[in-house]
Amino acid sequence: MTTPMKTKVGIIGGGPSGLLLSQLLHLKGIDNVLLEKHSRDYVLGRIRAGVLEHGFAELMREAQCGERMDREGEIHDGFYIAHDGIRDRVDLKKYTGGNSVVVYGQTEVTRDLYEARDKMGGTVIHEAQDVTPHDLKSDAPYLTYRLGDEPHRVDCDFIIGADGFHGVSRKSIPKDVLTEYEKVYPFGWLGVLSRTKPVSPELIYAKHERGFALCSLRSQVLSRYYLQVPLTDRVEDWSDEDFWAELKKRLPEDVAGDLITGPSIEKSIAPLRSFVAEPMRYGNLFLAGDAAHIVPPTGARGLNSAASDIYYLYHALLDHYQDGDDTGLEQYSQKALARVWKAQRFSWWMTSLLHTFPDSISYDKRLQQTDLEYLFSSDAAQTSLAENYVGLPF
Ligand code: APR
Ligand code: PHB
Repeated sequence: MTTPMKTKVGIIGGGPSGLLLSQLLHLKGIDNVLLEKHSRDYVLGRIRAGVLEHGFAELMREAQCGERMDREGEIHDGFYIAHDGIRDRVDLKKYTGGNSVVVYGQTEVTRDLYEARDKMGGTVIHEAQDVTPHDLKSDAPYLTYRLGDEPHRVDCDFIIGADGFHGVSRKSIPKDVLTEYEKVYPFGWLGVLSRTKPVSPELIYAKHERGFALCSLRSQVLSRYYLQVPLTDRVEDWSDEDFWAELKKRLPEDVAGDLITGPSIEKSIAPLRSFVAEPMRYGNLFLAGDAAHIVPPTGARGLNSAASDIYYLYHALLDHYQDGDDTGLEQYSQKALARVWKAQRFSWWMTSLLHTFPDSISYDKRLQQTDLEYLFSSDAAQTSLAENYVGLPF
């Protein structure tokens, strides 16, 4: 074992949650070490969603990582819901008093955060194997890990579990302390990235009896499309031709007619899941982001749900180190979960509204139709959708 490293905050996971917290703390002089299981190329090879809410964009700017996002990201003031052969627009700006979202890939967010950590000389350790948190209930928790055959140790004041859904942090909380809430949906999303002009400058969420479809984008030359597919489908089952043909069937005729197709540069299937683990604190371990909660992608809440965790944790740690005030740390789990559950509710609602459920009875279908009719006949309903989509206040 090499000499133990000593730091204030040990962060497990180099996804957007861990990186953002690491950067924010470093800017305030709070020493931290980040351990990531994979190589940087691997992390940056993952294609994830691409809609950022206002509050997340603000945090990126506060972390001094917002420059490229502000230059290359697109401000979207609305999006469409297509149904019954037509398109209705949700005017985010109008219904939120001027708010909007930024369309900028999560992969790019992660890239910008890594670059900022490098520039500041942050300690980010890649390919850290067997990361294990210890003595979580004590005032001196520590992390062990391996680099190749070499064992290492980091002594810390606090450990942050930002290691995603499959990480080690949540699993190190005793089972009798943790309550897990989970809902698995009977379908997945097949996603295709293509170097083609997007069919629409704004996103189109399409409800169709053949299944849901989404037209999204990364830029005006890079499109991202999704199809609802059965969980039994495999990526290999879907040729590019099949994908485009099915997408056209699920879009209104005028939109389908405008669709420019091309070879896929990425194609993958992701199952849809809602999940929350409570509490988000165990001793001096604090969970953040996907380590504690997952949403189906329909409401674009994944990264944005993580953002509020990071905001609360960052301020709680600042209060601790700058003022000796632990109120924020004590209230973290409760405060974070209150917003997390609202994002869960919204994501579940958007998913229920727009997907075709294999086991739904005719009554369910009429209710779903009525929900949609009500939405576009009521300013109150559109206000509710818009305020949730742009992100509830932290
Ligand atoms: N040790 C160290 N690192 C780990 C471990 C481990 N045992 N297990 C997982 N990791 C790393 C993963 O390799 C990944 O890079 O933790 C990171 C977690 O990152 P994300 O899964 O991106 O989670 P998070 O940072 O919370 O970001 C939330 O990402 O998954 C999307 O929908 C989600 O948009 C949301 C956002
Ligand atoms: C995406 O662009 O990948 C995306 C956009 C909106 C969503 C989900 C995914 O709701």
